[in-house]
Amino acid sequence: MMKLQTLATLAAGIALTGVAFVLAIGAFDTNHAAARTADVDADLLNDARSNFQPLPQDMATPEFPITPSRVELGRKLFFDPRISVDGTVSCARCHQPALYGRDGLPKARGAHDTLNPRKAPTILNAALQFKAHWRGDRENVEDEAKQVLIGLFSFINPDYASAMARINPGIRTRSRRITGPRRSARSSARS
Ligand code: HEC
Repeated sequence: MMKLQTLATLAAGIALTGVAFVLAIGAFDTNHAAARTADVDADLLNDARSNFQPLPQDMATPEFPITPSRVELGRKLFFDPRISVDGTVSCARCHQPALYGRDGLPKARGAHDTLNPRKAPTILNAALQFKAHWRGDRENVEDEAKQVLIGLFSFINPDYASAMARINPGIRTRSRRITGPRRSARSSARS
């Protein structure tokens, strides 16, 4: 009969071999998974590099150049609620700089507390987009900045003439000097 001691040694030997085997498989699996993750990361990075470029220095275009006076006027208009039908809504209400150009609401609320059908997206870097609005129904940020003034949910002005009449004469004069009488609303988009 095998001695108890021999049996114990044998059992310990078998157990240790098993542990070593399991450890070896584990190590192989970990290495394999790490290699696969590295491949996926590299593919993702290559994909991103082919789709995205570094941001440009600024977003000026020949049609909409960036000059100190246009920036100053744009900033004033962006924060001026007088341009809305009830005098409470500026661009900054729904595109708050402190909230990364959004308002944090499920859906934006305009003049007379009117509920917008959609959420206000960020406007940070929006000038680089080839279309604006969730549905892409605006050509660019200039187009949006102009049309929103007479839209039904935000500023709710009946027409451009009454929108222009609401802003103070100082701004009107400056805006005419910078952009000409008919394009003044556009300059607010690049602020
Ligand atoms: C009452 C809220 C509200 C106000 C005020 C407002 N916006 Fe918006 N803005 C929105 C909402 C909501 C959308 C998305 C609308 C959609 O896609 O149908 C939007 C979309 C935009 C976009 C398109 C962004 C993108 O990624 O497509 C720009 C640019 C923009 N607004 C600029 C302005 C400017 C400039 C003003 C001021 C002249 C302004 N907005 C005033 C709510 C507002």
